Amino acid sequence: TQLGLADRFGRVATDLRVSLTDRCNLRCAYCMPEEGLDWLPKPELLTDDEVVRLVSVAVRLLGVHEIRFTGGEPLLRRGLVGIVARTTELLPRPQVSLTTNGIGLARQAQALKDAGLDRVNVSLDTIRSETFQQLARRDRVKDVLAGLEAAQVAGLTPVKVNAVLMRGVNDREAPELLEFCLEHGYELRFIEQMPLDAQHGWNRATMITADEILAQLAEPFGLEPTDAATRGSAPAESFTVHGGPQTVGIIASVTRPFCGDCDRVRLTADGQVRDCLFARTESDLRTALRAGADDEELADRWRRAMRNKLPGHGINDPSFLQPTRPMSAIGG
Ligand code: GTP
Ligand code: 5AD
Ligand code: SF4
Repeated sequence: TQLGLADRFGRVATDLRVSLTDRCNLRCAYCMPEEGLDWLPKPELLTDDEVVRLVSVAVRLLGVHEIRFTGGEPLLRRGLVGIVARTTELLPRPQVSLTTNGIGLARQAQALKDAGLDRVNVSLDTIRSETFQQLARRDRVKDVLAGLEAAQVAGLTPVKVNAVLMRGVNDREAPELLEFCLEHGYELRFIEQMPLDAQHGWNRATMITADEILAQLAEPFGLEPTDAATRGSAPAESFTVHGGPQTVGIIASVTRPFCGDCDRVRLTADGQVRDCLFARTESDLRTALRAGADDEELADRWRRAMRNKLPGHGINDPSFLQPTRPMSAIGG
């Protein structure tokens, strides 16, 4: 048997999140400033072949069995369909999913399905044009809704929807968002806002907490916690709506951290292993890869990278420091 990606605290990473670009066509206020960011220079980005090579090492040598492609916005990556196709051909075949803002998904959903993609998670914080414009600094709500529908039709299911609530912007819209998702059969999860924005504008006092979200939804939707024993390492706590079978989730990364059960590891678009969203160090696989390292050496470097993984993100510690990389360059 081969050694996997174990850390010093007994956790083993089997879920790899791969960022394919740090670019995005939205400017969500919890993520980046209106003017955008300085994108990573092209020569630093892994090529399609390099991405597939590293993913293949993770799957064949390191026990990773779930691959999630993220961004930035991964649909902006030209080679996406090819990368997905080559990933689903790996043995043992990993589960492959995509986290996207949904823009352009209507056009690509069927091709992604044909390439073997299993499912998608789509970010949608509001179904109102005015709120979308205010939150994402451009109104693309129609494209996102079309993307969601196309994903459903193509069978990229269960289609999950991620929503971040911001006080004074969309925090009153939780019930209508849930209503909309129930109607369409999308699995909605609300996410507590984390300190990962490029502007460093996160503020605990204005963050909408899981408790607040539940207080808004519990009674009108008859929420009941589902069996906690089935949660495992999933970040979302799940609640049935009116007795089920439909559910709504809450990802309470800040007020109810789930780091103790973490099974994740990340690869950035420029080929750095991050053992945590909030890691303060990275391990450079790109340089080794380009210097001609073989699979075993890459796997070895990856295993060693996991030794730095801390027990938790530390957001609630007085000494917490936000990572220098913003969410868009880490991968969600
Ligand atoms: P599935 O439940 O398997 O569909 O995946 P997921 O929820 O991990 O995927 P998604 O990319 O949709 O992530 C949703 C949100 O979960 C992210 O925006 C984060 O807020 C949160 N999340 C994902 N991974 C981590 C993690 O490693 N740590 C923390 N704190 N939050 C995470
Ligand atoms: N806090 C919480 N979630 C965030 N996302 C982006 N930035 C943040 C943040 N600061 C969400 C996106 C997407 C998912 C990958 O992460 O909305 O759904
Ligand atoms: Fe783009 Fe995602 Fe950031 Fe929104 S949250 S600006 S979709 S990277």
